[in-house]
Amino acid sequence: MSLRGRIAAPDGAAKRGPAPADGTAHLVPAYRTKLLEEIDLAEMSALAPHERRARLERVLGHIISREGPVLATQDRALLVRRVVDEALGLGVLEPLLEDATITEIMVNGPDQVFVERAGRVEQVPVRFASDEQLMQTIERIVSTVNRRVDESNPMVDARLPTGERVNVIIPPLALTGPTLTIRRFPRAYALHELIALGTLDEHIVSLLSAFIRARFNLIVSGGTGSGKTTLLNALSGLIPERERIITVEDAAELQLQQQHVIRLETRPPNVEGKGQITVRDLVRNSLRMRPDRIIVGEVRGGETLDMLQAMSTGHDGSLATVHANSSEDALMRLQTLASMSEVEIPFPALQDQINSAVDVIIQLARMGDGSRKVVEISLLASHGRETFQIASVSRFLARPASADGKVHGTFEHLPVPRRTADRIHMAGEAVPPVFGVARSADQVATREAAPQP
Ligand SMILES: Nc1ncnc2c1ncn2[C@@H]1O[C@H](COP(=O)(O)OP(=O)(O)OP(=O)(O)O)[C@@H](O)[C@H]1O
Ligand SMILES: [Mg+2]
Repeated sequence: MSLRGRIAAPDGAAKRGPAPADGTAHLVPAYRTKLLEEIDLAEMSALAPHERRARLERVLGHIISREGPVLATQDRALLVRRVVDEALGLGVLEPLLEDATITEIMVNGPDQVFVERAGRVEQVPVRFASDEQLMQTIERIVSTVNRRVDESNPMVDARLPTGERVNVIIPPLALTGPTLTIRRFPRAYALHELIALGTLDEHIVSLLSAFIRARFNLIVSGGTGSGKTTLLNALSGLIPERERIITVEDAAELQLQQQHVIRLETRPPNVEGKGQITVRDLVRNSLRMRPDRIIVGEVRGGETLDMLQAMSTGHDGSLATVHANSSEDALMRLQTLASMSEVEIPFPALQDQINSAVDVIIQLARMGDGSRKVVEISLLASHGRETFQIASVSRFLARPASADGKVHGTFEHLPVPRRTADRIHMAGEAVPPVFGVARSADQVATREAAPQP
């Protein structure tokens, strides 16, 4: 059924005109209370979402048969639906959460709900009755993870036990009303699926495989929702099975397939503001755990310095993502983030640190048609305190816009610098023939990254 069809009853119905005179609306609060009295909430939270709904429907069915008025089949179904929607705590959002094609739900105040499907954002005809009703839904969501949202704590970022990532920001910070963003737990894609989606091609995968097996340090860079975590997860599959891998994440999303993986996740402060564990704490701790590789879900702050130090001191072959819009931007961003650590490091020393830590930058972009592309793969070719030199080995060349609205183009494969090729060969790996090895420096597509003021 289409989303429109799914939400037509009961919530959508109210907006298109007067609600049908089903005569059951007034029964909803009483039955909700009865239902909540009869179920065991702790037991419920252990169930998968669809099982939860089925269980509530069954219990409510018993209650109605036992003590309810005799209802027409349709009215009874509508009553069950309304009560269960409310009991599940997410009211009008329930049908959206059930729809597996939706990857993100964005509620901008009570009157505006947008969803993302296959990379495209569209508004859906769903609304909350009032700011208060929306706040109640938000409170129910955040209370499932023991968090609180109110004027003194107007922003919450959390992961639900079911995997969804939830962000809430309320007035006075949000001027358009209580704002809720729900990101579904991202589905893992294998590299061959990403090839089929046109995100990269098989030659690029071979090159990235050689980089990973030869223990190059990789940075996956891209804007919001460009597919960084998805690509990082797929790439992690190229790490040899016998290695000890430690993942550090703010909200655990990675789903590594290897046997020997330790997953670490940060912890926000509790309601008294205590007990916070940051990415930085975890990165530092992971260094004492004898890792072969460290994977940092996303660097956003001072932990960048610890990660760079780890990368350049024996934990090579590490991977991380950073939020940036180009390869140059990624380097600048790493530099800025590393300088956010409390250790005062002069600018040239940071440059040195990045030059010795970062080997490869994989730049992702989300295109106008919703597809994601590896728009560039570059090597950091500078050393010591030199200005950053970026050597491009792969680029996506988009063709002019076509009538079908889709982004078409080709992946260009460029010669790999000699030093890089040597390192790959030393590790017993090969440079895929379509790239080739540069015979001289002027065969390499090198450019300087804009120097920092
Ligand atoms: N290559 C791809 N092709 C199509 N869809 C993709 C691709 N990669 C990721 N997606 C989808 O895009 C959404 C965002 O993906 P992902 O979480 O990997 O992005 P991100 O860049 O890590 O986002 P954030 O900036 O929030 O960390 C998910 O719904 C995911 O399924
Ligand atoms: Mg991510």
